[in-house]
Amino acid sequence: MRKFIDINDFFPDEKLVSENFEIFKKKFHYENGDYYENVILYDRKQSRTMMDNSNLELDTCKKFIDNANGDVLIFGLGLGFVVFPLLKDDSIKSIKIVELDSGVIDMIKPIVKKYDVSNKVEILQGDVFNYHKSIDTKFDSIWIDIWNKFEENERKEAVELYNIYVNFVNGGGYIDYWSI
Ligand SMILES: C[S@@+](CC[C@H](N)C(=O)[O-])C[C@H]1O[C@@H](n2cnc3c(N)ncnc32)[C@H](O)[C@@H]1O
Repeated sequence: MRKFIDINDFFPDEKLVSENFEIFKKKFHYENGDYYENVILYDRKQSRTMMDNSNLELDTCKKFIDNANGDVLIFGLGLGFVVFPLLKDDSIKSIKIVELDSGVIDMIKPIVKKYDVSNKVEILQGDVFNYHKSIDTKFDSIWIDIWNKFEENERKEAVELYNIYVNFVNGGGYIDYWSI
């Protein structure tokens, strides 16, 4: 079982802003005055949280974190938080991340690369719905995580994408998609 890494300290206290997204820390207070803090990736166009590093989000990504190995392909950079537990693991050879939004890449890539001491991570701009047309290699693990909700339409997309990308997984490899 791989351990999640607390990413709060990896992010600045000041808000990061790009055209479509914001990243900021938010405090949640208990009645006794204690609080905990999460990092939020907020979608400005949809006016809703794309993701955060809450326990719920951890639960929905745990299956990937535990199963990733070898050459890894991830769709959706987000906060990059599934990547951090893999960086120092010798069973992970390479991690390619395909992200649609250039602003997310500009904000998150420097943070991920700072902790990528073995230089395993490559971050590319691309669209999961087209990217398969340019792949000429297979991966040991593929994780598709591009949604901020998982309703009928997202489920349909997930199955469609799974059926495409399953062809790019090595025998005995792992492929899955985020769902809730
Ligand atoms: C929920 S976040 C990903 C979480 C990420 N795996 C992590 O560990 O933090 C979803 C990301 O997918 C990206 N995305 C949305 N549609 C996409 C697409 N068609 N292709 C690639 N990335 C996409 C969003 O811009 C966002 O950064």
